[in-house]
Amino acid sequence: MGNLTPQQFPDRPKPRVEVQKLHGYTAPLEGRRNLLRLDFNENTLGPSPLVIEAIRNIPSNHISIYPEYNGLREGLIANLISSKSCADLSTDQIGIFNGVDAAIHAIFHAYGNPSDQLVTTTPTFGYYTPCAHMQGMEILAIPYAGVEMSFPFQKIKDAVKTNKPKLLLICNPNNPTGTRLEPQRILELAALSPHTLVVVDELYEAFTGDSVLPKVDLNKVQNLLILRSLSKTAGLAGLRIGFAIGNSDIIENISRVTGPYDINSFAVIAALAALKDQAYVDAYVQEVLQAKDWVKHQLIKRKVHHHMAGGNYFLLWPKNKSSDVEESLRAAGILVRDMKGKSFIEGALRVSIGTTKQMNYFWDSFSSIDLTT
Ligand SMILES: Cc1ncc(COP(=O)(O)O)c(C=O)c1O
Repeated sequence: MGNLTPQQFPDRPKPRVEVQKLHGYTAPLEGRRNLLRLDFNENTLGPSPLVIEAIRNIPSNHISIYPEYNGLREGLIANLISSKSCADLSTDQIGIFNGVDAAIHAIFHAYGNPSDQLVTTTPTFGYYTPCAHMQGMEILAIPYAGVEMSFPFQKIKDAVKTNKPKLLLICNPNNPTGTRLEPQRILELAALSPHTLVVVDELYEAFTGDSVLPKVDLNKVQNLLILRSLSKTAGLAGLRIGFAIGNSDIIENISRVTGPYDINSFAVIAALAALKDQAYVDAYVQEVLQAKDWVKHQLIKRKVHHHMAGGNYFLLWPKNKSSDVEESLRAAGILVRDMKGKSFIEGALRVSIGTTKQMNYFWDSFSSIDLTT
């Protein structure tokens, strides 16, 4: 018997109204394995060898036991202190999530009432919008300013002061524009409205060092949450592990809406090993920053319209249609991301930055596809 159509089963259960209207967040994740992946801002070399070794050494019976999280928060604190990212933190100021995406979801779930407001910027990371819509929240998305795509500080400040929104989400540096905001400014915004939870998505801070973490006393500032992930620089995107760092009360609230075993044992073991090998991450960041300088030089030399600021990525506007160039690059074995549908940057491609060798390969292909005339 075939499936019943909705007409044949009119009394079927309906999801919440917000879910009926929702456009879920999808990403082009399939068929990427053997290509040069410059489309998701991942680490293009893979994780530290210590991570691989730690995973290989997992005893088989660990697969049949629920995960243990003891030691992971301490491991993160030791890593942050040794890299001078904070003076001190307590374990109750750290939440562990199945990637920062899960942390974002939990924040909205815990704090977003229907009709509450989210203030954020546009264009920015795509997952904030569906999370707000899931809760029935309103979104005020303020555009980056001018050709420099600078942070619209005054407008955000006015919105926070006047509206006292429930959530303010700042991606710093911003994905995909790379826009940077001084940490001090974030603290100014947090001080303006104690009713507003200010969330700073610091996924790419390693490339700029603009973190608010060293500047804040989380015992005093009770409305600030910082998001960090091991997906990008540490190369653990496939294992899914992210952290939320903030006042213990916020951490308690967002952890309440998270399942007890949401982060798996493999991710925990890999994270502990990655956090112990900061030297590997630092070396990768240096490699990317060198490659970034090299690409910047090529873009300027060939007068390619581009925008490069913070992060391990940049925007470029090809002469040909962006979707055609994306397709031709894929045929040459290179993945980049078309910014189709993103406000103000339609027609651009976002290109992640890997090693100089990888960027050479990208540049040769891109030049022959788009710069031949
Ligand atoms: C700005 C930003 N935040 C969060 C995420 C999600 O990170 P994770 O892999 O830790 O879920 C991404 C991933 O691309 C991102 O670019």
